[in-house]
Amino acid sequence: MKILVTGGCGYIGSHTCVELLDANYEIVVIDNFSNSKPDVIDKIKQITGKDFTFYEGDVQDKELLNKIFKENKIDAAIHFAGFKAVGESVAKPLMYYRNNLDTTLSLLEVMNDHNCKKIVFSSSATVYGKPDTLPIKETAPLSTTNPYGTTKLMIEDILRDVYKSDNTWSIAILRYFNPIGAHKSGLIGENPNGIPNNLMPYIVKVATHELDHLNVFGNDYNTKDGTGVRDYIHVVDLAKGHISAINYVLNHTGCDTYNLGTGHGYSVLDLVNTFKEVNHVEVAYQITDRRPGDIDACYADPSKAKEILNWEANLEIEEMCKDAYNFVQKDNN
Ligand code: NAD
Ligand code: UD1
Repeated sequence: MKILVTGGCGYIGSHTCVELLDANYEIVVIDNFSNSKPDVIDKIKQITGKDFTFYEGDVQDKELLNKIFKENKIDAAIHFAGFKAVGESVAKPLMYYRNNLDTTLSLLEVMNDHNCKKIVFSSSATVYGKPDTLPIKETAPLSTTNPYGTTKLMIEDILRDVYKSDNTWSIAILRYFNPIGAHKSGLIGENPNGIPNNLMPYIVKVATHELDHLNVFGNDYNTKDGTGVRDYIHVVDLAKGHISAINYVLNHTGCDTYNLGTGHGYSVLDLVNTFKEVNHVEVAYQITDRRPGDIDACYADPSKAKEILNWEANLEIEEMCKDAYNFVQKDNN
């Protein structure tokens, strides 16, 4: 079976490519390196000992997609390509709507033309807005607070409409909670340029003295220690969720949505303290004001993915912290 992976050089895509190759899938990857580096390709090959086909280019480019589908017999696609920074999406909404929507529309149109109607899509827990009930089930009300989140919800709606119009499609919408950590090899992981927006990359840069201290955004939330609670999931567990989803879409039709999370909530201070403990490093922090738009707590009810996809997360928060630090120590870029 041959799987097209869009955005396969990115953080979650690269880990998923490794799991796909390990599971003996053939893969074809397209990426334009807008948020990744070409050396990831060799690293994926090094980890797996397997080769694959790569196309450099934009997923919005239908001509290129057509060429890819003509040159390869693609059985299904996993669509990661898109922009993902919430703050940037508020500053540059058109750039986000253009890239996230156009990549998806071009891909769906070309897939349809080539009668390849099986797709796994990267959505986000951000589509739950401010959840009323925890843990969050897939049936919870949906809303968004920023253009990034709105693109995810719009794409979910597009996918549901595509299925309604033609029920030979098979679509899995995966709502990720908070992916962190890195591959055990330390060869692939997440190391954003500049000042990170998300918690784990920030902690890592404080631990490596690239940044002076972590700002903990508020300690007056309605949580056990007052700091925000999230469902952190190891990126390798998340990547494995895509293998389960691909196996499922290859063998069923339908359009369904799955939470990919652990079901456990950890606070900012839980993560900081665990990181310090398992890596034997200091992580200086200061409590500051809340970040606008943040919510108290967000964690998944992952039971649907277990029941239907036969997937559940296995790796603990200690492993996530160790692997995140191991990656930056080995990453020479
Ligand atoms: P990432 O930025 O590391 O990876 C995205 C990849 O897509 C990058 O390699 C980038 O170069 C590529 N890309 C972007 N636009 C492209 C285009 N037009 N053509 C070709 N390639 C393009 O992001 P990630 O963390 O791996 O996230 C993957 C997907 O999962 C995204 O859709 C993101 O919105 C979604 N997601 C991520 C998180 C998270 O916390 N990382 C959470 C929820 C959902
Ligand atoms: C953020 C995005 C969300 C996106 C997710 C994964 C916002 C408002 N939400 O979620 O849409 O799906 O990333 O990419 O940006 N924190 C600090 N100090 C920091 C950074 C974070 O205290 O320097 C806290 C936050 O207040 C939060 C927790 O750490 O309580 C996790 O933050 P983050 O990693 O940014 O993820 P989310 O806010 O869950």
